[in-house]
Amino acid sequence: MAREISTVGVIGLGTMGAGIVEVFAKAGLTVVGVDGTPELAERGKGFLEASTGRAVAKGRLSEDDQAAVLGRVTWTDQLGDLKDVDLVIEAVPERLEIKRDIFGKLDDIVRDDAVLASNTSSLSLTEIAASTKHPQRVIGMHFFNPAPVLKLVEVITTLFTDDELTTSVRELAERLGKKPVVVGDRAGFVANALLITYLARAIRVYETGHVSREDLDAAGQVGIGLPMGPLTLSDLIGLDVVKEVCDVLYAATHEPSAAPPALLQQMVTAGRLGRKSGQGFYTYEKAGSGTVL
Ligand code: 3HC
Repeated sequence: MAREISTVGVIGLGTMGAGIVEVFAKAGLTVVGVDGTPELAERGKGFLEASTGRAVAKGRLSEDDQAAVLGRVTWTDQLGDLKDVDLVIEAVPERLEIKRDIFGKLDDIVRDDAVLASNTSSLSLTEIAASTKHPQRVIGMHFFNPAPVLKLVEVITTLFTDDELTTSVRELAERLGKKPVVVGDRAGFVANALLITYLARAIRVYETGHVSREDLDAAGQVGIGLPMGPLTLSDLIGLDVVKEVCDVLYAATHEPSAAPPALLQQMVTAGRLGRKSGQGFYTYEKAGSGTVL
């Protein structure tokens, strides 16, 4: 069913969506970036300009290449502008009703042979696929934050998913320079099923108060050898996202290790969401920055 993928639509231009736009544009594909308002679409454009601007400043990207990347992307607040794309990747907030609504609308907008992908990190892809008229063309492409840097892409399949589609999406991920892994639709898929229980455990250890956040992070980073300590990583992912994945894992497994720790729940309620809000386990220079005060 799938045809050669050269034009991609990305819906939702927050941290993940903007990063996904960057991945595709750098790989030479034409991208249409969509968000709900002209201001949000403009914000997405700003993320791409800033990210590629940092690469130019570090000498990793020439100004000509930056112009080429930016020139491959158009920005819009209209889903209708996706009518000619070969693949759509949805990266809107993790609310099933919003995703189902978008996929339902896409059915009437995109071409019959277009692929519909979701970047969901915690929701059931089967539920999303079931909201469309052609669930066999729905698949998961789950990128990891920061998407331009991390190589893993989970290619998530449902009972509906066409086998040929799985193969072509796996090949597409390889074309993007990523490492695809194919996984069925289960809570946490594979990477979050491993990672999020570790992060929840770390937050529970921190809650006991017998170790500082810096020393706990050093234990995870230097001792266990991950690129970041667990509290720093939770702030990067977003504490709301960590909690959502905990909720989904716990509902599916009832394993106590997956239950969201009380501190995590309270921080989310208090709006301390990590880097994106400027405060999480650490305080950041400004919302969205990685500079710890
Ligand atoms: N966008 C683009 N490039 C970025 C970036 C971003 N947001 N953040 C960092 N980079 C680039 C930098 O420009 C730099 O590139 P260079 O080496 O070519 O100059 C390179 O990445 C390394 O960055 P830094 O030197 O600033 O910092 P570090 O070496 O400390 O690396 C990190 C930063 C890549 C974030 C690294 O600490 C890391 O890999 N952390 C772990 C992140 C992780 O585990 N993510 C998975 C989260 S789980 C998830 O997303 C799933 C979801 O469903 C919950």
